[in-house]
Amino acid sequence: MTVATETDRLDQLIAEQEAVFLERQPRSRKLLERASGSLAGGVTSSWQIAKPQAVWISHGAGSKVWDADGNRYVDLHGGYGVMLVGHANPSIVDAVRAQVTRGSHFAQPTELAIDVAEELVRRFGLPLWRFGNSGTEATMDAIHLMRAITGRDLIVKVEGCYHGHHDSVQVSVYPELDEVGPPERPASVPASSGIPSAVTDLVVVVPYNDLDALERALDEHRGEVAGMILEPVMMNAGIIPPLPGYLDGIRELTRRHGALLAFDEVKTGLTVGPGGATRLYGVTPDLVCLAKAMGGGVAAAAIGGSQEVMDHITRGDYEQVGTFNGNPLALAAARAALYEVLTPATYERLDRLRALMAAGCQRVLGATGLAAHAVTVGAKGCVTFSAEPVRNFRQFAAIDDRYSHLHWLYQHNGGVFLPPWGKAEQWLLSAQHTEDDVAPFVANFETFASTLTGGRVTGGPVVPASPMDAGGRDGRR
Ligand SMILES: Cc1ncc(COP(=O)(O)O)c(C=O)c1O
Repeated sequence: MTVATETDRLDQLIAEQEAVFLERQPRSRKLLERASGSLAGGVTSSWQIAKPQAVWISHGAGSKVWDADGNRYVDLHGGYGVMLVGHANPSIVDAVRAQVTRGSHFAQPTELAIDVAEELVRRFGLPLWRFGNSGTEATMDAIHLMRAITGRDLIVKVEGCYHGHHDSVQVSVYPELDEVGPPERPASVPASSGIPSAVTDLVVVVPYNDLDALERALDEHRGEVAGMILEPVMMNAGIIPPLPGYLDGIRELTRRHGALLAFDEVKTGLTVGPGGATRLYGVTPDLVCLAKAMGGGVAAAAIGGSQEVMDHITRGDYEQVGTFNGNPLALAAARAALYEVLTPATYERLDRLRALMAAGCQRVLGATGLAAHAVTVGAKGCVTFSAEPVRNFRQFAAIDDRYSHLHWLYQHNGGVFLPPWGKAEQWLLSAQHTEDDVAPFVANFETFASTLTGGRVTGGPVVPASPMDAGGRDGRR
């Protein structure tokens, strides 16, 4: 089938699969109608809205979730990358149950905080930590610290990286291609209404994987840049790995310009390996931001920093605060996740599953000729619907969204739950997934790809590993 007829079929197949989707979830439709009377938009976060309708969840267990209509799914959504421990993991359930009977909140430090911080020191190699409740809080503290320490106002941010919903990072997150400006000097585009231009003007935007552009930006704003924040592996644009030497280059350039460096590891931390991208790629920033998987399924976040950076908190030059910081329920779950669930054996198992997912995708793509490739790193992976590897936001943004939406629908209707926001998101495996969970994903992918291309899958040999495995330096993971 030619590309023209393939793209023509996308709309027709999307309409068919959306009809199947709605038919399978009549109770969810009723819940959405009821919710619209009391919840703005009928959901609790705007990114829970999906086409053709939000998925209403009843419960989860192990690697599975059930929707409000009783349909069971292999869960590869993982609550937007949180559920690395899997659902209702016995270690987490026991830890939270034990803690809630001893009191759920004191706003005073508990011994749990030391246990969790000590393990984060071991894993990420940064000596001092503080806790918060969300990724947004973690990156907000990182930005505040970089400005407080340097006395400078400008922040360098990568086009297409998402760091939460506070003002300073709500810039050029998913800008329209007609407003982004020249590739080597991207415009600073507010990510939503409500972001003052005075704040946007303080954010210098650079393309990912481009050290020349970064050097130029730092030279142009010599002595004005407080620091740079980035996702070391871009994970709000599918998965875009750093090119060899990119993270080292950033480390060197920021140091040379007296600017600090923050890795936003809200998505990568713990999921790409035990010590996040920091350990995977062997580049240590001044600050690391964690959230999502760190809490073992409960809301928790952390910032870790060098002695020099965190001394500003110790001395009280910057007050890192929050009523729920170090909440004992969250830290009981985090401690169980770190010490009992996310063990070396778990990471080995996750790596085996990662390779199976990648090989399954590659076999189907080889057999159908669909122009796409799988990108995997640790427990995370995605199918990118372009023949060529994607290196930055603009290449990613140019990909036709309909492919990932149709893929999502085929997976969903076939009992596998991927994150609803199509091409921007990626799958998450968990400590409770097994090979039996990989099989339905690959089968659905095969149905999707062969239906779309009109070809027949011949069941060719499984190739061992994806060439787009984004494993770290020297293949270390
Ligand atoms: C890389 C990254 N940083 C920060 C955040 C914000 O985290 P939260 O939604 O917990 O505020 C997200 C959320 O998706 C993220 O992907």
